[in-house]
Amino acid sequence: MMNILNHRFRDWRKSLWAVASFFLFSFQASAQSTFDVSILAGTCANCHGTDGRATGAIPSLAGRPASTLEALLRAYKSDSPPPGTTVMNRLAKGYSDEELAALARHFAGIPAVVSSSAQGVKK
Ligand code: HEC
Repeated sequence: MMNILNHRFRDWRKSLWAVASFFLFSFQASAQSTFDVSILAGTCANCHGTDGRATGAIPSLAGRPASTLEALLRAYKSDSPPPGTTVMNRLAKGYSDEELAALARHFAGIPAVVSSSAQGVKK
């Protein structure tokens, strides 16, 4: 009798584990592959200006080649960031390579200057 119970209990635990790990792994997979780049990019605006168009001393990001931006971000994330780096070395480490590439493409796709014809148009 004890044997049967034990056996059943183990089976039950096994299936529970199977169900739990299914959800755990599918959640991890979706968390890694889907992110909203505009939400990630919102953080950058605090320092690099709205849409990456800076008005102060911090460089603009908008309209610069994606390859340049990605190279800079990867350099910041690396173990030997460019000399003089103050914040970006710590910041870049918080993003996956995939996210950095997406951020680079995002800012590259924004025109560097707001075109005067677009400014007057109400959408
Ligand atoms: C807390 C302020 C701050 C935030 C937030 C921030 N940056 Fe920066 N960023 C800087 C500063 C300051 C520099 C100059 C390098 C340094 O001192 O680290 C810089 C430099 C850069 C450069 C290199 C520009 C160049 O021409 O050398 C890139 C690319 C960049 N940041 C991208 C981003 C992205 C993408 C984000 C959002 C994920 C972001 N930054 C968020 C402050 C910030």
